[in-house]
Amino acid sequence: MEERETWPGRLSFVFAAMGSAIGLGNVWRFPYYAYKYGGGAFLVPYFVALFTTGIPLMMLELAIGQKMRGSAPMAFGMIDRRYSWVGWWVLILSFAVVAYYTVIMSWCLVYTFHSLTVAWGSNADGFFRDFLGITSGPGEIGSIQIPIISALVVTWLIIYWIVSKGVKRVGRVVMLTVPLPVILLVILVLRGITLDGSADGINYYLTPDFSELGNGKVWLAAYAQIFFTLSLAQGVMIAYASYLPKRSDISNNAIIISLANCGTSFFAGFAVFSILGFLAFQQGSSVANVVNSGPGLAFIAYPTAIKLLPFAASLFGVIFFLMLISLGIDSAFSIVEGIGSGLIDAGVNRERAIKFLCMVGFLFGMIFTTGAGYYWIDIVDHFVNEFGLVTAGALEAIVIAYLFGTSRLRALINSTSEVKVGMWWEYAVKYLTPAVLIVVIAYNLHESIRGYGGYPYWAILAGGWGMLLATLVLAFYAGRWVRWR
Ligand code: PHE
Repeated sequence: MEERETWPGRLSFVFAAMGSAIGLGNVWRFPYYAYKYGGGAFLVPYFVALFTTGIPLMMLELAIGQKMRGSAPMAFGMIDRRYSWVGWWVLILSFAVVAYYTVIMSWCLVYTFHSLTVAWGSNADGFFRDFLGITSGPGEIGSIQIPIISALVVTWLIIYWIVSKGVKRVGRVVMLTVPLPVILLVILVLRGITLDGSADGINYYLTPDFSELGNGKVWLAAYAQIFFTLSLAQGVMIAYASYLPKRSDISNNAIIISLANCGTSFFAGFAVFSILGFLAFQQGSSVANVVNSGPGLAFIAYPTAIKLLPFAASLFGVIFFLMLISLGIDSAFSIVEGIGSGLIDAGVNRERAIKFLCMVGFLFGMIFTTGAGYYWIDIVDHFVNEFGLVTAGALEAIVIAYLFGTSRLRALINSTSEVKVGMWWEYAVKYLTPAVLIVVIAYNLHESIRGYGGYPYWAILAGGWGMLLATLVLAFYAGRWVRWR
């Protein structure tokens, strides 16, 4: 067998994994969740989830990837031939994520240029709607938006350029794409906290409402968020760890990656909420009224605030969107690398595999560049995250815990790592993680079975349940037919 490629150094592996974890999700999703679910009090369930599920699963994925020296399907296939479909399923699910994730990045790319002239003027909301060419609902496709699709081509070309040559190049690129957004974030925090009204925003973000801790929903949200934010159950961490030299440290790396990610989320909240405080102050309204979730935050509230800055508005606009792009790019290409390594392990030549994935990713992404794209992103995102990822995560923990064996894996981790993990780790992987995830799934099912977001049910069937079913069927077939070289 030929030698597997390896990272150019330990730091490049750690940076690549951090780059995957730290993404668009850290800047809007975390701060928004924190504010919605009890402010500072949300940190309690969040850190409990991090230590009881996030870090243990991060260790598990790194250990399995390093031990099996293969992508997710190969790693699962080596544990038990019958379960390689679990590995394919996580890859196919992550493909759905990258198809829309790159479209959001394309919005950021176009907005970077609009920032130069602060093109949205005083109506960022209307500007965003025109920019999307948004239609009345998912059934009315509208037309493909030329600026968005052009940016999408550029995004995929960049991803192709980075990933097609292997992890040596990835390892060098992350030396830029990990520190850069952090530096930009620091600039934005400094700008934010020196604005009038910023303290109100930060108070709003952090004032703890401990009564929320009695609310089960808050705990479930914290667990789901930890999963998404750490890029778990996507095959990414398994693939990245498969390029580690044998006997690399596992537990220490897992802890560093996870804490760096969650620290960035917490810090990003200051950038976001200080500016929202300023916006509320300028508009004479309250922070609660200017806060919006997701895209609304990045493409409406934040741009509105930027327009009102006392000086260099366009510069801060450019910084903000460049930060989002540099945050997103290493998450996006980590997914492509994860899937690509699955195909490469199955015998496909690297460049060909990556070219294929980039082309298909672009083709699927085209749906999201139409006037109905915004709605479809919302639907697919909801179903992949609330069902796909958590189900795959539960399966992953169960297969590895019960077929490979937690004591064996723990011994392996401890044989190469600085920080030794105790029995608690086995309990976390074997009982706690599957149990919590099953509760999360059941709860989400209860919430979504009748529909979601007020969309017509056929759209939920197509973009939600149907999409999930299609990914499962594909995964079963791949699991049956693909042989390792
Ligand atoms: N963790 C990334 C974020 O928070 C998203 C992501 C999910 C990246 C899955 C890779 C795999 O934005």
